[in-house]
Amino acid sequence: MNTVDGRPVVIETIPELREKLAGHTVALVPTMGALHEGHLALVDRARQLADTVVVSIFVNPLQFGPGEDLDKYPRDLSGDLETLSQHDVAYVFAPTVAEMYPDGGTQIIVTGGEVGTLFEGRSRPGHFDGVLTVVGKLLHLTRPQLAYFGQKDAQQLAVIRRMTADLALGVEIRAVETVREPDGLALSSRNAYLSPEERRRAPSLHRALVDRDPSLIEGDVDYLAVVDADTFAEVDPRPGALVIGAARFGSTRLIDNIRIEGR
Ligand code: PAJ
Repeated sequence: MNTVDGRPVVIETIPELREKLAGHTVALVPTMGALHEGHLALVDRARQLADTVVVSIFVNPLQFGPGEDLDKYPRDLSGDLETLSQHDVAYVFAPTVAEMYPDGGTQIIVTGGEVGTLFEGRSRPGHFDGVLTVVGKLLHLTRPQLAYFGQKDAQQLAVIRRMTADLALGVEIRAVETVREPDGLALSSRNAYLSPEERRRAPSLHRALVDRDPSLIEGDVDYLAVVDADTFAEVDPRPGALVIGAARFGSTRLIDNIRIEGR
């Protein structure tokens, strides 16, 4: 399926993607690249269940607000392909912005509804509209049986589940546990922005979630709350609920969450 050296076949256009995937049972792993072990956990899980794993790599302008990090977001396609060559991925879909948004944007957008207005939606207006619009398009282009997302971005996972249910997209959404550094910091492409000193403070976000105590965050707290995993409504702590948090370390904004374990 993939090339001789194990590298995935790179597809850049929509017609080629449709042609290559016709007749395959696909598992899709959408990403924005700069791949790390968190992304690879999704890929490895996807491979267990589908014959054809497709990883999309697309830094989606639609989900970045004005003043956010679209321009400096890390991009390393050749490094990503090298990484994926060890993970038996059939295809990488890496379209240009012009391929995805030929008119420079899109008039029709998918909005996140109630869940999309809370927490991340409140701090990053329009963010989930951008996520859902591109994920909807990627699902439509690849028509996967399964699509894999990280628990790390729990609210993104919730809005995507909601979209696939409400629009009956006929794809099964699978979540994969958050991969962390030994000190608890959740892996993120944005960790690359942290100075050594900020990197030392960043694991305090995870510790604050564990203790449910925002005062432990050694950065600027955006929010720390206990929420229902589907609706993101605030709830009293109970098994299955999520403790979610967001904070800024220098100019880098990080998010994380943990699930409250059962009795
Ligand atoms: P990106 O941030 O590249 O993440 C791609 C996927 O990897 C997401 O499902 C995310 O939750 C998952 N992920 C990131 N860090 C993880 C970690 N430490 N452990 C486990 N999974 C992790 O999320 C996006 O891209 C975009 O919004 C996207 C869905 C691709 C739409 O553009």
